[in-house]
Amino acid sequence: MHASATSTAPGKVILAGEHFAVYRRPAIALPLESVSTTVEVRPGPHDLLVTQLEPGDHARAFALVRLARSRVPGWADQPVEVRVAGSVPVGMGLGSSAAFAVALTRALAVAAGHDWDAEAVRTVAHELECQVHGSPSGLDDTVIAHATPVLFRRGEPPRPLRAGGPLHFVLGSVGYAGSTYEAVAGVRRLAEARPDWFAGVLDQAEREVTAVVEAFEAGDAAALGPHLDAVHALLADIQVSCPDLERLVTAARDAGALGAKLVGAGCGGFMLALTDGPRQSVVADALRRAGAEPVFVLSIKGPNP
Ligand code: MEV
Repeated sequence: MHASATSTAPGKVILAGEHFAVYRRPAIALPLESVSTTVEVRPGPHDLLVTQLEPGDHARAFALVRLARSRVPGWADQPVEVRVAGSVPVGMGLGSSAAFAVALTRALAVAAGHDWDAEAVRTVAHELECQVHGSPSGLDDTVIAHATPVLFRRGEPPRPLRAGGPLHFVLGSVGYAGSTYEAVAGVRRLAEARPDWFAGVLDQAEREVTAVVEAFEAGDAAALGPHLDAVHALLADIQVSCPDLERLVTAARDAGALGAKLVGAGCGGFMLALTDGPRQSVVADALRRAGAEPVFVLSIKGPNP
């Protein structure tokens, strides 16, 4: 019958296509293994949730536990004790809610003896994400459940991607969260107010994602950089950047980054800079001097490291 089980899910970083993914345009995202969420579940006498979350978030997470329990066969009538630990910063564009949803779903499935593949886990995790964010595209739960770089389009199976050569990134935080729900709602208001303009922005965003995928698969950092800048400009056009993100993006470029952009929903959270190998630590230092905290580095190995 039920055993205890533990599952760990990574964070994620979106290279291109955030926000536009909501409108069925493509997006490319990478798992971010340097941060993760671990969920441990065990049958209990009653439902119990142990986390370090704020009380408001705790109530929400508890509702997610109940929903997940109702979706994983075998758990419906079995109270569960859930322990959550992790390092994915909450509400910062690195996929904290999707990492929780994926780790929780997988732990429940494993404990109940199901051999679920990534897609089965993602389906339930996506339902949890809908409860948190309204109508998310599924980009976050997809890249985190599959734990591999993906080309994503809403409603379609993801295409796994491989970098054609080593790529070096730096991530810097402005130090406060943005609300995905509000950012997505703000973009929707713009889209409704200026439909012709927004249709043009969507087409441009799709062209950028195509170019980003091509450069990523070629492992061509020099080609990739300007497209990341172009993606950032589109995100600023749809008003999800903010002065602090602009400051960090500029600091990274001034320090020699090949390209830089905000990541995720924006209006706070993290930005990402692409560098060549030797400049990774130089850009990381420049971001720290510009006030970024925390700063992470992310290096992707090519096919023949
Ligand atoms: C948030 O990480 C990604 C967004 O594109 C929202 C979504 O895809 O649902 C902003």
